[in-house]
Amino acid sequence: MITEVYIKIFAKLSPMNLNNLFMFYPINPEVIYLDWGMKNRLSRIIKKDGRTVMLAVDHGYFMGPTTGLENLGETVKPLLPYADVLMLTRGALRNYIPPDVEIPICLRVSGGTSILNETNLLHEGTIVSIEDAIRLNVSAVAFSILVGQPFERDTILGMTEYIDEANRYGIPVLAVTAVGRGLGKDAKYLSLASRMAAELGASIVKTYYCEDFEKVVETCPVPIVIAGGKKIPEEEALKMAYNAIQSGAIGVDMGRNIFQSSNPVAMIKAVNSIVHKNYTPKEAYELFKEESKKVE
Ligand code: R5P
Repeated sequence: MITEVYIKIFAKLSPMNLNNLFMFYPINPEVIYLDWGMKNRLSRIIKKDGRTVMLAVDHGYFMGPTTGLENLGETVKPLLPYADVLMLTRGALRNYIPPDVEIPICLRVSGGTSILNETNLLHEGTIVSIEDAIRLNVSAVAFSILVGQPFERDTILGMTEYIDEANRYGIPVLAVTAVGRGLGKDAKYLSLASRMAAELGASIVKTYYCEDFEKVVETCPVPIVIAGGKKIPEEEALKMAYNAIQSGAIGVDMGRNIFQSSNPVAMIKAVNSIVHKNYTPKEAYELFKEESKKVE
């Protein structure tokens, strides 16, 4: 009811009148609109069962033509029916993905260094304006932070600035967390980075799976998805996804372990079965083998 009243009032107001209105009405009507938009976008990312399979194919932003993504469009097309969200760059979206695609998009909006620049790897800043993200009709944006490097402050302030902008338009920010070299991808450092990202305003946190992963999940007040990391044997990748879900992760944001698999379609089906159907790693691996036979 209140929303309807505001819609009617706003239709007739100029920006100056809007400012005046805010003086008399302490409730900021933007919150009414944007809160719904934020919730709507989050509901596209996280499905009704509270889980999500995000397919990450954004690697080109710092790795160039990554193995398996040389023709990104061809690789991704058969995988889309089994993914809930597609995570990629704006260039990949515009050049490889047809605009009538139904899958929600998580757009990578941070970057700036290449894999060749080892010292500064992940010293990232904003690479896409919020306007372009909106123009692309994205459901979420992804911003990387690196904790435990001398330049951590740059990445963290970059993310928080982007969160402020994204909040203005009701767009959730996925924080892609990484820890500095030598710190180890263990529960101590991954929980530090994840908790920081959540406290700084991220809607979802992406991190790596580790031993005692439940500690990372328990101390992070927003949903967590895991990255797949470098390609490992399918059976191991499925175990990792299963363990992450059992520890409380809401899903995966997985790339190389899907698109570099011997059979990417079979692999994403198997990952999906763990995330949405609670398959055990054994059942999922059986599914992978069965599906691999079918499409050979
Ligand atoms: C990393 O910076 C990128 O966001 C990747 O897309 C992400 O780490 C997930 O891909 P993968 O499962 O290949 O690690």
